[in-house]
Amino acid sequence: MIGRNGIGIGIGIGHNLDGLSMKILLTGGTGYIGSHIAVVFAQMGHSVVLYDNLSNSSASVAGQINAITDEKCVFVRGDIRDTAFLQSTLRSQQIEAVVHLAGLKAVGESVEKPIDYYANNVQGTISLLEAMEAERIKTLVFSSSATVYGQPQYLPIDENHPTSATNPYGRSKLHIEEMLSDVAASDGGWHIACLRYFNPAGAHETARLGERPAGKPNNLMPFIAQVATGERTVLSIFGDDYETPDGTGLRDYIHVMDLAEGHAMALQFLISNAGWHAFNLGTGQAYSVMEMIKSFEKASCQKVAFNVAPRRPGDVAACFANPDKAMLVLGWTASRTLDDMCSSTWHFYQSFDNAAGKAKG
Ligand code: NAD
Ligand code: WQD
Repeated sequence: MIGRNGIGIGIGIGHNLDGLSMKILLTGGTGYIGSHIAVVFAQMGHSVVLYDNLSNSSASVAGQINAITDEKCVFVRGDIRDTAFLQSTLRSQQIEAVVHLAGLKAVGESVEKPIDYYANNVQGTISLLEAMEAERIKTLVFSSSATVYGQPQYLPIDENHPTSATNPYGRSKLHIEEMLSDVAASDGGWHIACLRYFNPAGAHETARLGERPAGKPNNLMPFIAQVATGERTVLSIFGDDYETPDGTGLRDYIHVMDLAEGHAMALQFLISNAGWHAFNLGTGQAYSVMEMIKSFEKASCQKVAFNVAPRRPGDVAACFANPDKAMLVLGWTASRTLDDMCSSTWHFYQSFDNAAGKAKG
């Protein structure tokens, strides 16, 4: 593990998650990250509307969220590019703030299908902004990504690091951030936060929610989990000759529930702060691919078979956050450990009903 100051991840300070109860629409609300945010928000007493076209999720997730929270989250099946329907949903549900997660997120696919990525992510966001403006809703939290930093020029990465993009997915995030900055500059009534996620991982402690990608996983953690369950035979480590302590890539993995709580803190901040704001959501600690394998083996008591493959094009040796701004300004810091990420993922995978395509229970 590489950290900025050598301290472990468990450095959480007390989160003040109390606040006003609001009516919040989550675009992409039945997706991996949106579903965990929905739980956090519903348990805080907010009214949550999940707005999703189900292109990469299932309506059963709304049932799992409601089972966890005993709250009535409303699920609306819709596409963010359908401006009229989105606007009527904002109005009928009396929405006061939006967390915008909906979008396509696979880097490789974005290189093959850039039009889909710009249409879904950029055009979808324009449609959302038009609907929000028409309804005079001007509080927005956007799911951005550390991908907007491009090739790291220094580590750890703070919010002042130059932005750039190396693929259409990353460029769509950057375009959206720039659009949102222009929108906030044009009208002081907007309150916008761009949250730049590092590497989300882990699952809900009930094992009802987690990440179960259809087809071959792009990301490391679900791939490791699928080797541990025996669904896949072997993990290919993409390069062991990087300039890192064990030669494998270093990343800043953040528990999805810490990430979800970061959204709650960002929303609370936006209530009293107008303008455009960017925050890193990461831990500041970095783990190597090899450390991830070892940690998952310990949490699952399973062997994770691996071989060493060539480097993946576009990968960097190391990428991790300076999360100080989120701590100082939002009062947020990640508190869950790598073991929490691995054990919750393992628990979720063991509970997943492959035949039904959803978590059991
Ligand atoms: P996800 O695919 O699980 O969730 C996205 C949801 O958006 C899905 O449920 C999908 O059905 C929905 N969606 C897609 N296009 C839509 C549209 N046009 N209209 C309505 N719904 C639509 O992905 P996730 O991992 O939960 O990511 C959520 C957001 O966070 C994305 O914007 C992603 O780019 C961003 N992000 C994710 C990661 C990561 O590693 N998971 C890292 C950084 C940023
Ligand atoms: C992590 C490490 C790989 C798979 C990507 C997107 C980024 C963001 C998060 C959305 C790297 C290694 C991986 C495998 C491996 N998404 N690896 N074998 O590349 O940091 O970021 O997801 O915004 O935009 O680019 O995450 O999980 O793909 O890889 O060795 O089968 O694991 O080389 O070192 P990454 P990742």
